[in-house]
Amino acid sequence: MDKLKVSINHATAHFTGNEMTALLPEVTAAKEHLLKGDAPGNDFLGWVDLPATIDPAIVGRIKAEAERLSSISRLMVVVGIGGSYLGARMVIEALQSEFASMEKREKPFIVYAGNTLAEDYYHQLLSLLDHEDYSVCVISKSGTTTEPAVAFRIVKAHLEQKYGKAAAAQRIVAITDARRGALHDIASQEGYPMYVIPDNVGGRYSVLTPVGLLPIAMAGYNIDRMLAGARDMRDICINNNTLDDNPALLYAAVRNLLYRKGLKVEMLVSAQPNLRYLAEWWKQLYGESEGKDHKGLLPHSLSITTDLHSMGQYMQDGERMMMETMLRVDRPNSSVEIPSDEKNLDGINYLIGKSLTQINDCAVEGTIKAHVDGGVPVVEITVGKIDEYTLGQLIYFFEFACGVSGYTLGVNPFDQPGVESYKRNMFHLLGKPGF
Ligand code: PA5
Repeated sequence: MDKLKVSINHATAHFTGNEMTALLPEVTAAKEHLLKGDAPGNDFLGWVDLPATIDPAIVGRIKAEAERLSSISRLMVVVGIGGSYLGARMVIEALQSEFASMEKREKPFIVYAGNTLAEDYYHQLLSLLDHEDYSVCVISKSGTTTEPAVAFRIVKAHLEQKYGKAAAAQRIVAITDARRGALHDIASQEGYPMYVIPDNVGGRYSVLTPVGLLPIAMAGYNIDRMLAGARDMRDICINNNTLDDNPALLYAAVRNLLYRKGLKVEMLVSAQPNLRYLAEWWKQLYGESEGKDHKGLLPHSLSITTDLHSMGQYMQDGERMMMETMLRVDRPNSSVEIPSDEKNLDGINYLIGKSLTQINDCAVEGTIKAHVDGGVPVVEITVGKIDEYTLGQLIYFFEFACGVSGYTLGVNPFDQPGVESYKRNMFHLLGKPGF
C-alpha cells in the first residue's frame, strides 16, 4: 500500500534543524495526551481508536441500510452542517465523477441540505425532489442545530406529502445522540432507523462514525477500505515517536514552528479539483480546533492551477504571512491522451508524449519553486492515488495531527465555544423563547 509522506524540504530555509528537533518533546508530549486522555477535551477522544474498534456489526448494518435505501432511491438528501456533513461530502466528491449529477448512475446521487438557510436553495431542492425518488439521511449530534432542523422539517413535509407518512418513514434515517436531543426524540417517535454518534466523538472528528459512513456507503463507496486506510494510518501515528517515522508529528511540528516564527495563514493547495471538499473539511477541522484564545494559523485553501490565475499573484507577491501545504497525488486513476495536431497552431505539440499528470506535476513543481523563491515555506503531503484507502489515511492523518498540533499550540482542540455567539444573536433576532 502507498504510504502517506510528509516532506519539509521546501520549508527548512525558515528555521534551523535544532529548532525543529527542539519541538520533538512538545509534539510527543501532545501525542501522549491524546493517547492517555489526560488533557483538556479528554472526553472527546473516541476518534483516536475508532478505526480499530468500530463494531463490525454496525458497519454491516450501515452497508445493509445503504443497500436498502439505494434500491428505492435515485437521490439521497443528506441533512447536516459542519462536522455532521463535511466529512461525507469530502469523500463523496473526491471519489465521484466531477460530472456525476449529469450521469446515469447505479447508486443514488447525494444532495445536501441543512448547511444553508437560503430560501432559493430550498426552493430549487424541492423542485428537484418533486421529480425524483429520494430518501433522507438527517444528521445532528446535538439534534437541536437550527439549520438542519429547519431543512429537515421542510424536506420531511415534502417526503410525507409525496409518499404518505408511513412510506416516508421507511425513507428516513437519523444519525444522532444515543439518548437526547430533538432529533433523537423525533426519530424515536416516528420509528426511523437510528444510528448513534458516540458521546466521545465530536462533530469534526466524526467522519468514521455513521455520520460519514452511511452517506458514503449510500453513494456506493467501499467503507471497509476507507476504515482500513484509517486503521493503517492510526498504527503509524500512535506507534512512532520520531519526526522521520511519524508524519503526523512532523506536520504538527512544522506548522507550530512556522506559526511561532510569525506566520499567520496556512494555505492548503491541491492540483486535484475533486479534493476541494477535502480542503473544506480540513479548514473546519483546523479552524475550529485551533482558532481560539486569539491563537492559531488561519486555514485557507487554493485549487490549482485554477487559482494560480487569481490568488497566485498574492501567494507570489503579497504580504509574507503564510505557509503552504501542498497536497500531492502521485498517480491518476485513469489516463487521457493529448492528441497530436499536424498544424500545431496552438503551439503545444511539444507536450505530445507527456501525460496530463506529468504536465500537472510540472505545474505543481513550478508552483512550489516559485512560491519558495517568493519566500513561502512549502510543506508537501504526498499520497498514492485518490481512492477510499487513501482518503481513510488522510482523514486519520489530519485528525491525529490536529490533536497533536492543538495541544502543542496550547489550546483544547476538541471544543468550539466561539460558534455559540452567532447563534445567540440569531435566536434573539428571531425571538426564540429564552433569548
Ligand atoms: O464540529 C462540530 O462540532 C460542529 O461543526 C458541528 O458538527 C456542527 O455545529 C453541527 O452540530 P450538530 O451535529 O450537533 O448538528
